[in-house]
Amino acid sequence: MTPLYEGKSKRLWATENPDTLRMEFKNDATAFNGEKKESFDKKGRLNNAISTLIYVMLEKEGIPTHFVREIDETNVEVKKVDILMVEVIVRNVAAGSFCKRTGMAEGHVFSQPIVEFSYKSDELGDPLINDDYIREMHLATPEDLVHLRTSALKVNDLLSAFFAKCGLKLVDFKLEFGRLASDPSVIVLADEISPDGCRLWDLKTGEKMDKDRFRRNLGNVMEAYEEVLGRVKETLG
Ligand code: TMP
Ligand code: ASP
Repeated sequence: MTPLYEGKSKRLWATENPDTLRMEFKNDATAFNGEKKESFDKKGRLNNAISTLIYVMLEKEGIPTHFVREIDETNVEVKKVDILMVEVIVRNVAAGSFCKRTGMAEGHVFSQPIVEFSYKSDELGDPLINDDYIREMHLATPEDLVHLRTSALKVNDLLSAFFAKCGLKLVDFKLEFGRLASDPSVIVLADEISPDGCRLWDLKTGEKMDKDRFRRNLGNVMEAYEEVLGRVKETLG
């Protein structure tokens, strides 16, 4: 069996249902566009558990997503989508590439969330793009873009409030969206939501509880992911 698609941290497999796929979370971690690589025994299981709980919560809050059901510890069934080649990033606090680009100090709290877009291309290193690029590259229509921005901000409100209850600050995160294969007029939230694609800081200590522990060699990477899962479970009761 070969997967339909293999990315840096996930594989997609066909199922018996033509409208769904099996999404497998791998143990591989990469950073800096794949330059830094390591495998962590528990990573697939932890990210699947965190992402599944968050997707179920978002669905309950009225956000349409690709999620169907959890299959086992490292696999979920998802609706088949055509992924939009635009990554949507929301930032509440300055960190990462924002600081690199602007020189602003890490930790500056924005007066309003920043929404930015990048072109989903490993070859080009996911460059920052804007609305005009997206229109001319035919990555999404201007109407789609309004929807992506509105949805991303709504997800930010829901996730920021949820992670605050977990004692975590949602600093920034990346979302991906896709068109349902069964009805391309419908755009849903796709991919995963986990400490790989979110920056989460402990509200009391400021400690980084996300993939920056791996990117910056801070150690205890899986311990932090395990702690996030524990808090998410506890908060959801
Ligand atoms: P950045 O500061 O490196 O641009 O990252 C912003 C957020 O997006 C951060 O929470 C990590 C996430 N992200 C991904 O999930 N995948 C990526 O390829 C990149 C560059 C960032
Ligand atoms: N996920 C990207 C990579 O592998 C970038 C990152 O998260 O830092 O390389």
